[in-house]
Amino acid sequence: MRTTPRSWLFVPGDSEKKLLKTPETGAHAVIVDLEDAVAPSAKPAARRMAREWLEAHKRQITMRKQARWVRINAVETGLWREDLAAVMAGAPEGIMLPKAEGPEQIRQVAAEIYELEQRHAIPNGQTRLLPLVSETPRAALTIAAYMDASMPRLAGLTWGAEDLSAELGATRKRDSAGQWTDAFRFVRAQTLLVAHARGVWPIDTLYADFRDEDGTRRAAEAARADGFAGMLAIHPAQVPLINAAFMPTEEELAEARAIVDAFAASPGVGTLQIDGRMLDQPHLKLAKAMLGIE
Ligand code: COA
Ligand code: MG
Repeated sequence: MRTTPRSWLFVPGDSEKKLLKTPETGAHAVIVDLEDAVAPSAKPAARRMAREWLEAHKRQITMRKQARWVRINAVETGLWREDLAAVMAGAPEGIMLPKAEGPEQIRQVAAEIYELEQRHAIPNGQTRLLPLVSETPRAALTIAAYMDASMPRLAGLTWGAEDLSAELGATRKRDSAGQWTDAFRFVRAQTLLVAHARGVWPIDTLYADFRDEDGTRRAAEAARADGFAGMLAIHPAQVPLINAAFMPTEEELAEARAIVDAFAASPGVGTLQIDGRMLDQPHLKLAKAMLGIE
């Protein structure tokens, strides 16, 4: 069972300097971007550099191996096949698909990956997929379609606010209190619910103002508190904040232990109380999940 990457750091595929820095960032997963962070004229160079980076980091002899992901260009661009042809030789753990429009596109990309896995002697099905499911209004309204469709490579679902806001002509994404406005809350909630319904990772979107440490920390804490499994990042400074936010605190662990102990001390009892707080089976389930038992 692979452990869930909590922090997912984007790195522009054409930046040698940033690609060189990835191991020291502490990111659980690195997403080498061939899409929006790369100018059209730089795409061929970015593909080549992404492939070299993948190969160079294939066999890190370390316990802290970073998952190697690549964001290809959207299916509608026609660039995605060349992207895949270039990077699959480096056997990435997964491919992020931007502007994803539903299960049919996932199957289309998966079929191409299947061919390339064969060509490069990569075990069939090893390469996972993480779609950005919210980047057009139509896509945002059909996130539920990911719930039941057959997509064995699907690793998780994630969402982005930038492209959707451009499509909407929205001049803000958050309100004056810093909360996402309605369209973004809607897609965030659907991403979370559909990913859980399907049993894949819900990954929260990035916090764009990367110099704002408090804002990043709050966003990461909210992501975990709301049930996301991880969060996207754009700058190395965000990575430790995200990693820390996804670690249970000592207090939370102590509380979870107290809940598990209380139920263990009263076998057959379905509901009880600790310090005046009612606890029943969902609390026990959450406590066990936090402690990593059962
Ligand atoms: N990955 C690896 N290293 C990064 C990095 C990243 N995403 N972002 C910045 N760095 C490095 C810089 O190269 C710099 O290195 P140095 O100290 O050796 O000079 C250091 O971290 C500090 O960077 P800083 O000067 O604060 O930022 P910057 O102006 O170099 O870059 C961004 C700012 C936003 C352009 C950059 O963070 C970036 O490219 N982010 C990813 C963008 C992306 O991929 N977007 C697509 C998804 S939305
Ligand atoms: Mg984009």
